[in-house]
Amino acid sequence: MLFKNALIENSETPQDIRVENGIIQEIGSLESKNEEQIIDLQHKLVLPPFIESHVHLDTCLTAGDPVWNQSGTLFEGIECWSKRKEKLSEEDITERVNKVVRMYAANGIQFIRTHIDITDPSLMALKTMLKLRGTLKDIMEIQIVAFPQDGILSFPNGKQLLTEAVMMGADAVGAIPHIEYTREYSVESLDFALNLAAEHGKLVDIHCDEIDDEASRGLETAAARALELGLFDKVTASHTTAMHSYNNAYVLRLMRLLKKSRINFVSNPLVNTHLQGRIDNYPKRRGITRVKELLAEGINVSFGHDDIYDPWYPMGNGSLRDVVFLGLHVCQMMGYEEIMDSYKLISHNAAKTLHITERYGIEVNKPASFIILDAENYYEALTRDSVVLSSYKNGKIIAENTPSQRKLMF
Ligand code: FE2
Repeated sequence: MLFKNALIENSETPQDIRVENGIIQEIGSLESKNEEQIIDLQHKLVLPPFIESHVHLDTCLTAGDPVWNQSGTLFEGIECWSKRKEKLSEEDITERVNKVVRMYAANGIQFIRTHIDITDPSLMALKTMLKLRGTLKDIMEIQIVAFPQDGILSFPNGKQLLTEAVMMGADAVGAIPHIEYTREYSVESLDFALNLAAEHGKLVDIHCDEIDDEASRGLETAAARALELGLFDKVTASHTTAMHSYNNAYVLRLMRLLKKSRINFVSNPLVNTHLQGRIDNYPKRRGITRVKELLAEGINVSFGHDDIYDPWYPMGNGSLRDVVFLGLHVCQMMGYEEIMDSYKLISHNAAKTLHITERYGIEVNKPASFIILDAENYYEALTRDSVVLSSYKNGKIIAENTPSQRKLMF
């Protein structure tokens, strides 16, 4: 199969991509072979597939069931979820995850890292998700984080449940230091989680300081342990919204450790601008971690959705375009190059976080997985909200969209 005239990753020079047996064989100015199928991309933008680096698939598509979160706060969200939780079953999770994964696939996403709540003695959601990881693998590669929503030290048998989740096959170990009852528990929970990951060769993804409290300092402990245990970029700090409120002198000191530790960051602009700053009068904090400053220091940051249509976030359609669009605004990253490069926040940077770079990217000898957008470059795609025309995974087409048409009668 020969894809002609592709504008790969904002390049202005069209190139051709030859795919055989699901692998990219050649890239360049290529002549077609006998009886080879030719697809003329007509100077459309070709990108590596998008990656959702942070979502909670077990809560997706439950907004308003049985009640709506009227205030929109995190705490009312928790109340709504406790009512919805009573209805959780394998069938319920399977049905919702199947739907939401297809929404993602239609928008060019081929990899998802999902956090799954394991503060449930039956571990039902995790068991269901482990099955779905297998059944959905041809359309979506799913990475599962064992997520201790109510804490590791502050939930009965938290350590045991987390260990069990890892033994059952979770890909990454989670933690939530700012939810633990005390500062001491917070530190101990991180020690436990990172040691568990080191022992079992797992990745780590922490819900880290998702709070407007400038004294919430889980991040420094996570980074220090990542460095000391040699886990480095196997560790990811998600949210880190408290960093928005840290004083600059502290951040200056912290940056040194963050760079040495090589940990990744995931920021979730849609959900955190919605949930943070709720106890402020005016001025109200944006509640977004220091994405621009982290990137300037060479630290890896990706963007995630976090929630899709659930008690904490009543919107979301599985398109990471909106995540990038809002993220660029609230992080004040609207320079020309920043806009052009912003697709990396949901592609290459996320691939580093998921540790899949060796089989990711539009390069010879890598899997023929890429997406074609109805635009010439990402600036245009983002501004015009261009659709993903098609998504190829291992050489097979898994999703196709047709651009909508508008008629003006004047
Ligand atoms: Fe989250």
